[in-house]
Amino acid sequence: MGTRLVGLGKALPKLEIENDALQALVDTNDEWIFQRTGIRSRHVAVSESTLELACDAAALALGSAASASDGESAWCEEPIDPASIDLVICATLSADTLIPSAAASIKRVLGLENAVAFDLNAACSGFIYGLSVADSMLAASCALPEGAAKQTMRRALVVGVDRLSRILDWQDRSTCVLFGDGAGAAVVEWDAEAPGIIATCLKTIDDTKNTLTCASIFASNTPFDEQGKLLGDAEDPSYATLCESLEVEPELMKSTVHMAGQSVFRFASRALCSGIEAVLEQSGLTIDDIALIVPHQANERIIRYAAKRLDLDMDRFLVSLAHTGNTSAASVPIALAEAYASGKIKKGDKIIAVAFGAGLTYGALLFEA
Ligand code: ACO
Repeated sequence: MGTRLVGLGKALPKLEIENDALQALVDTNDEWIFQRTGIRSRHVAVSESTLELACDAAALALGSAASASDGESAWCEEPIDPASIDLVICATLSADTLIPSAAASIKRVLGLENAVAFDLNAACSGFIYGLSVADSMLAASCALPEGAAKQTMRRALVVGVDRLSRILDWQDRSTCVLFGDGAGAAVVEWDAEAPGIIATCLKTIDDTKNTLTCASIFASNTPFDEQGKLLGDAEDPSYATLCESLEVEPELMKSTVHMAGQSVFRFASRALCSGIEAVLEQSGLTIDDIALIVPHQANERIIRYAAKRLDLDMDRFLVSLAHTGNTSAASVPIALAEAYASGKIKKGDKIIAVAFGAGLTYGALLFEA
């Protein structure tokens, strides 16, 4: 018995920006970007909101919307009754609104009348964290004795969505070329027969060097200073306190993404290996039992490095970032939706999904499709 994936969907904004188009903004070129990352293009949301992308992906995962003509955007065992969804978790760091949560808005737009909904921020690891939380909640609920006075949950929708284009510094060539916007969604349900999710590993490591930071995009409106006098237009004093607590230089704590690329690269490649090794050890399985590894799609070189360290051929890993770039929390569910829809993942296959991101976070799941 376990939590099993029964539907997947992905959504990308209409506008696709090729590497060369970024030359109009920063000193870069297609050759540098492709060689260092494997990225050729990314999608950028202009008119699409984070909510719209999330709902498009979720509707496909629920089987309540037709898949796009490429046939690679959705897979669903059978259409799912929206009223049967008990839980919505949205993993995002770029929701359109602080309140309501993105998850609450997804619930409302899609008419998931019986679901409880909340957001979760674990940056690019968010979908793995979300799926793991959903798995724990379904497992705890389904272990309850008959008639227990607790809420039961059998089916969950987990969405990973990010629109990082709105918080990128488009003058910073070391970050703006890496990311793209998008959404991916999965419907999971408790299955008394199938194993579903077999092993999970979640880790959060202190980011003592502040390698990945972005301040809240909302400036403080608090009108008082410490003595209760009106502040006027003075700078938000809590900003200095925050920078002191995190030991970060104020100029690094901007409301755009700051990244120390090489440090993140080293963390990321180690995190991929540790996540994979942890779920294998927990499950008692070996790498030979695994049909496919679906890693966070940040940079092909990070995946190559991990493959080398684990002594694995690259064809054991799904690499699908060439036309999406790093879509943050959406990256793993987008890759999974494509792999299921194209038949790369078949029923009974044992799969590892693994991601890393700001926090610093990483996590892995081993499941049977
Ligand atoms: N175009 C051209 N040149 C560039 C660009 C660009 N877009 N960006 C940087 N350069 C230059 C640098 O300025 C540097 O020039 P210099 O030698 O004259 O100083 C040179 O290229 C090499 O720069 P490095 O930073 O050493 O390049 P590296 O090979 O490390 O690649 C990269 C940089 C792609 C950012 C890599 O470090 C990386 O992928 N890091 C991990 C990023 C990541 O995966 N983040 C995921 C988590 S994000 C999240 O959770 C929100």
